[in-house]
Amino acid sequence: MANVKLTNVKKVYSNNVEVMRDINLDIKQGEFIVFVGPSGCGKSTLLRMISGLEDISSGTLEIDNQDVTQVPPSLRGVAMVFQSYALYPHMTVYDNMAFSLQIAKIDKKEVDAQVRRAAEMLQLTPYLDRLPKALSGGQRQRVAIGRAIVRRPKVFLFDEPLSNLDAALRVATRMEIANLKESMPDSTMIYVTHDQVEAMTLADRIVLLSAGNIEQVGSPLDLYANPENVFVAKFIGSPAMNVMPCIVETAGENTQIKVANTFSINTPIASPAGDSGKPGFFGVRPEDLALAQDGEPALLEGEVSFVESLGEATLLYITVPGLEEAVISKQQGTLQIQKGDTIRVTAVPEKLHLFNQDEQSYRCL
Ligand SMILES: Nc1ncnc2c1ncn2[C@@H]1O[C@H](COP(=O)(O)OP(=O)(O)OP(=O)(O)O)[C@@H](O)[C@H]1O
Ligand SMILES: [Mg+2]
Repeated sequence: MANVKLTNVKKVYSNNVEVMRDINLDIKQGEFIVFVGPSGCGKSTLLRMISGLEDISSGTLEIDNQDVTQVPPSLRGVAMVFQSYALYPHMTVYDNMAFSLQIAKIDKKEVDAQVRRAAEMLQLTPYLDRLPKALSGGQRQRVAIGRAIVRRPKVFLFDEPLSNLDAALRVATRMEIANLKESMPDSTMIYVTHDQVEAMTLADRIVLLSAGNIEQVGSPLDLYANPENVFVAKFIGSPAMNVMPCIVETAGENTQIKVANTFSINTPIASPAGDSGKPGFFGVRPEDLALAQDGEPALLEGEVSFVESLGEATLLYITVPGLEEAVISKQQGTLQIQKGDTIRVTAVPEKLHLFNQDEQSYRCL
């Protein structure tokens, strides 16, 4: 089991496009790290560079404190699980899991013990004699994970292992992966997904990528509560945070901001004095916008342009004069509010976010 360290790692493909730009990342032994980000941001490329399936153009990769930048994949002590399970169709579940150990000429008894242990962990014991075609998608994916477990790698690498599964099976298999992590606390796992629920629920730390850069690294709740920039603020959370242009009116301990020349807000967020009068961005999450009681001062007021009833929650799209995009408020349960109603919403000051004109959070200055 091992730590993984990337220093100034870059990837340039033959077409001279720089796909990964100067990645620095320190992953501790036993951590469950999730790479998340929009399609094409470089998640798979980064994972494949760690596995050795893709060359590192410059920079260094260390696994278990050894420089493995030039070491071939089979000697890095990593095992990778792909989105497509890539099982051998003519081999039973048992043989699929045993294969890599058999070709490494491991003692038969030891192979058997490893396969049965992995099958037990993944609840595959009843299926050991079956061929992959007689398994569900979730079971096949578990066999692919089992194949990685028996090799006892230092680092597990998963590339979107659940994305071929239907919604219910995703949830069930996600829980199994969480259990797997608990039963192997010393194993380092790096998991790629574009699904933020998977990222939030599985990760010790999330690495949020965009266009070949790391935007932020932190615990799921840290990224949710303290996004360092507008990209992170809008990527984590669903529906996304409402972010609107504003003018930072005064600076200091208490910052007043003016949004769309219609409403001003006092926030406890400190901003540098030099930024007074400059444009910035104001953010508030839909779930933090509550309906204002009668007589209670409102943060903003507008007309409901759309109502989405989800059963357990209702999304209100509020058109605010002077703002291009509707502001979304998420309320628990079902509401009597209808399209065309005028509503007032409010939020506690601690839940407000403020970013400078370069889209960086003032909280993190
Ligand atoms: N062999 C290649 N040659 C040139 N460019 C490539 C090559 N492979 C990937 N890319 C580019 O590198 C970028 C990152 O690709 P990558 O597959 O890592 O993205 P990703 O984050 O895994 O996306 P997805 O969520 O769609 O799987 C993309 O812009 C892609 O077009
Ligand atoms: Mg990918």
